[in-house]
Amino acid sequence: MIISDIIQTAASEGKEKHVPTITIDKGYKEGSDIVLVVVGHEMEHPNTEAHHISWIELYGVTKDTNQTLHLGRAAWAPVYSNPNVRFQINGIEKFKAFHALAYCNIHGLWANSLEL
Ligand SMILES: [Fe+2]
Repeated sequence: MIISDIIQTAASEGKEKHVPTITIDKGYKEGSDIVLVVVGHEMEHPNTEAHHISWIELYGVTKDTNQTLHLGRAAWAPVYSNPNVRFQINGIEKFKAFHALAYCNIHGLWANSLEL
């Protein structure tokens, strides 16, 4: 078994939505743009002590060296905070793709990618 065997994508979705959506917004500061990652963008995921999204991580792949960089991680307490995070990225034009991982405490790891 390899780690990709336990990472699910949109093809595995049931009625609850786990796949993180990735969107890019222009930052207010020159050269610092925003990568927004959200679970439950279209259909809310449960947010209770028993069932919730615990964390989201963002990775970027650089254009010039094809290096995968861990750009950040956000973690939440259930009930009082939502799995919705803004990563402010410097030099976004240096990346060719972003990958997000989200972890549900019941349903495991979920991934999505955005090619630029
Ligand atoms: Fe779940």
